[in-house]
Amino acid sequence: MGIIDRIKQKARQNLRKIVLPEGEERRTIQAAAIVQAERLADVILLGDENVIRERAAEYGADLQGIDIINPLTAEKALTYAEQLYELRKNKGITPEKAGQMVRDPMYYGIMMVKQGDADGLVSGAVHSTGDMLRPALQIIKTKPGMKTVSSSFLIESPNRALGEDGLVLFADCAVMPNPTAEELACIAVAAADTARTLCDISEPRVALLSFSTKGSASHELVTKVQQATAIAHEMAPELLLDGELQLDAAVVPEIGQMKAPGSPVAGRANVLVFPDLQAGNIGYKLVQRFGNAMAVAVLQGIAKPCNDLSRGCSVDDIVTTVAITAAQAQ
Ligand code: ACO
Repeated sequence: MGIIDRIKQKARQNLRKIVLPEGEERRTIQAAAIVQAERLADVILLGDENVIRERAAEYGADLQGIDIINPLTAEKALTYAEQLYELRKNKGITPEKAGQMVRDPMYYGIMMVKQGDADGLVSGAVHSTGDMLRPALQIIKTKPGMKTVSSSFLIESPNRALGEDGLVLFADCAVMPNPTAEELACIAVAAADTARTLCDISEPRVALLSFSTKGSASHELVTKVQQATAIAHEMAPELLLDGELQLDAAVVPEIGQMKAPGSPVAGRANVLVFPDLQAGNIGYKLVQRFGNAMAVAVLQGIAKPCNDLSRGCSVDDIVTTVAITAAQAQ
């Protein structure tokens, strides 16, 4: 069974409440109906109820059992506005501004998660990644013990010799444009945690990638990865983690043995940490488009599960991301 089916199974075992702020959008409405019918989560759609119901009828989507909340008229918006003001007053927002912000479905949804009225949030079919991430980072914040929010992509390759039967995590491919060595170390530790908790990988083996293997090249970019490796070792001494490694040294056993003999990770890594967002984002799209790998993103290091979609997402992508978010919320 593939990773997505395993995650869906997990989601079904203990239904969580997931809010979808882009509730008037076609793919979101269709996905909500599927999620509800397949019992992957309890869904809350945000938006104008008449608009949502009219569109659902037009698309043949059955919304039975789905809650619909309109942030423009919801009574709870007043409470959320007060809470938002308290959370952000030291950042200069006024009570009036907080009142306006919670009428925006994105902020309303984030406040629902913050206050425990929903267990997780999925958005991004309409909003850009930045516009989805900013409210989540400002309000939900990082998990205790984590300094940064980042992402892992679950990559399922048709080449079953890679990672765990073809499953490999790529981090960070969506959030931090240019991480410091310390932030890179946080990404590595968070990705190992995602591998363990979401993907049931009992032994994450983490490679911090570079264009150099064990000092084969010297450059400030390589030094950053070496420093990140050292920091990550301090943060999680029990973790199987190594760097700096080139991609082939990380995943091909013979090359790993030749270029990094004695490494506990080289040649058999199942978590790949990219040095920055340019490399990570291009890297995951390369394996997806050229290598026919399945790729799906999750946010990690965040205090409560919120996940971003690509604006080009399909209905199935939304269903999958809701299931992942529900599984993370357990
Ligand atoms: N972890 C935790 N908190 C963070 C992080 C982070 N990685 N980044 C920013 N924050 C916090 C800040 O501390 C700040 O908190 P505060 O307001 O309480 O002080 C708040 O978030 C906002 O920070 P800003 O610096 O104003 O936000 P910024 O404009 O830098 O936006 C963002 C952050 C949205 C993550 C930005 O770095 C970004 O756009 N990243 C790239 C996203 C992207 O385009 N990805 C590629 C496409 S995705 C894909 O292809 C799948």
